Amino acid sequence: MSDLGFIHRFVPATLPGRPPLLLLHGTGGDENDLIQLAQALAPGSALLSPRGKVLEHGMPRFFRRLAEGVFDQVDLKARTKELADFIAAARKAYDLSAPVAVGFSNGANIAASLLLSAPDALSGAVLLRAMLPFEPMPLPDLSGTPVLLLSGANDQMIPAAAAKRLAEVLQASHAALAYKAVPAGHNLTQHDLNIAAEWLGKLGPEPLA
Ligand code: MLT
Repeated sequence: MSDLGFIHRFVPATLPGRPPLLLLHGTGGDENDLIQLAQALAPGSALLSPRGKVLEHGMPRFFRRLAEGVFDQVDLKARTKELADFIAAARKAYDLSAPVAVGFSNGANIAASLLLSAPDALSGAVLLRAMLPFEPMPLPDLSGTPVLLLSGANDQMIPAAAAKRLAEVLQASHAALAYKAVPAGHNLTQHDLNIAAEWLGKLGPEPLA
């Protein structure tokens, strides 16, 4: 579907009481990438899966970067706002509560940016291979927002220190953070998926927000 401002896929819930998931793909992915993964991680949840609008050598992303790990902050700010507006429009169109983001790499970075600058857009997040996208000033109030951050201990793309700094900022913002560095590189492993499935399975019924 191409309405609501983003090309996207929407898969309705098949089980009641599960939070909807917002799927955010990595660089070069699209709206189809994470659907099967999400169905395995959280069976029955509604899935909202937009395609990033920025093209880097033809590869979709959610915001521009100047180099690997060096982000165009003006674009990031505008794209984060645009994504928050899409979430609001999709919640109305599909009658959804605030979603839990499941983001990988570039998708995890814009999910982190949403948490830090538009905290009401999400009810939680699974951040797979994320880093701190910017230093928020002031810190958002993420009291009680559940966040799972899984970094790869041998990730060549996301420096361990940048992932750790994201964990520190989320903790200082009072998110209910679970943070693990798994024995992996940038790519996801079965270990990641097991941890994410267990974490998502423990989330309560969808929040009323
Ligand atoms: C980013 O640009 O968001 C990160 O470097 C990860 C990625 O390449 O997607």
